[in-house]
Amino acid sequence: MKKFFEKINLGGIEVSNRIVRSATGESLAAEEGYVNEDVFKIYKDLAEGKVGLIITGMMAVKKNDICPGLLRIHDDDYIEGLQKICSVVHKNNSKIMAQLAHGGTQIIANPSHSPIGPSKVKDLVSGITAKEMTQDDIYDLVKSFGNGALRTKKAGFDGIQLHAAHGYLLSKFLTPYYNQRNDEYGGSLKNRIRILIEILNNVKSKCGQDYPVFIKLNSADFLDHNEGLMFKEGLQIAKLVAEERFDAIEVSGGITYTPNSESRKNINSKEKEAYFEGYAEKVANAVSIPVILVGGIRSLETIEEVLQGTGITAISLCRPLIREPGLVKRWLAGDREKSKCISCNKCLDTRDLGCFRIRQQPEEDHPS
Ligand SMILES: Cc1cc2nc3c(=O)[nH]c(=O)nc-3n(C[C@H](O)[C@H](O)[C@H](O)COP(=O)(O)O)c2cc1C
Repeated sequence: MKKFFEKINLGGIEVSNRIVRSATGESLAAEEGYVNEDVFKIYKDLAEGKVGLIITGMMAVKKNDICPGLLRIHDDDYIEGLQKICSVVHKNNSKIMAQLAHGGTQIIANPSHSPIGPSKVKDLVSGITAKEMTQDDIYDLVKSFGNGALRTKKAGFDGIQLHAAHGYLLSKFLTPYYNQRNDEYGGSLKNRIRILIEILNNVKSKCGQDYPVFIKLNSADFLDHNEGLMFKEGLQIAKLVAEERFDAIEVSGGITYTPNSESRKNINSKEKEAYFEGYAEKVANAVSIPVILVGGIRSLETIEEVLQGTGITAISLCRPLIREPGLVKRWLAGDREKSKCISCNKCLDTRDLGCFRIRQQPEEDHPS
């Protein structure tokens, strides 16, 4: 019977428990994306809080992908600061992966800088119309992911996760709404996932076959009028990706800034928790690599039920660990009270990552 606190090998990484910190953009990095004291502290606190595996916020692999406040990995200059993070995490017996990404047309903060996409389609969220990537643009991006991954290895990370969810550039290749190409990167599912496989191969050739490469995928995009990816295809994509030897899949869903986004609001009852469980369970039944569930998980009861009742291997948390970086340590110490996060999503609005409620009402506990 799976337990949350046991040691396991998660996709090639020895972790001390089954709790993963889901990628969380820091909104704190110095303007140019370097590690500073505030960013360092986030990771130190999480590692001291006994999170098994920490996944960083999305890191830009291309210089012209401007993501304000987020970490970057497009140049060797970034390695030194990241080394310090890896070192404090490892000192505390935790593990850390870098999430590599390209924002595409969805980086609202700076619309003029990232107008590329698989096809010339207007972004439903930002309203920006993408410049269709040429095949040379695609090869160049693939190489940039590989080079970024090599830098993460030099910095001491335990592996990388590709961000192919939530409407950012890689996820746009997966949905027929945004990917209207008629070359080998569009059309069939096999073609739409080609960029992911090329990145995987590029990373493994540069970092070694045993450097873990996870992927975060949408089960579905949950857009109005079924305009985005639907689960029927989401499941097939997960199967194809697993066959290509990615090391683990984190199952998410939704598009950032839309009503059914990946970070759903007001998770204030047990019934509302783990809102992607049904999808992740089906993925876990269909693939032979570990599946990580993310989205609205708030209590140990839910974690235990998911682990015991499904083939899901690990549980990923984001907002609860913004509210309380020491949550896992608290649970391990026997205090089973659920997360204090009330999913108000104010953490998404701040320019400096933190729990808004702690700042506003430090004494107040969560209402049930
Ligand atoms: C402030 C904030 C920043 C986030 N940044 C990222 C990110 O960089 N990459 C990513 O894949 N997901 C990101 N997410 C989504 C989370 O990883 C997670 O999928 C989502 O919040 C649901 O999990 P939760 O209910 O435990 O918060 C972010 C969410 C929040 C609230």
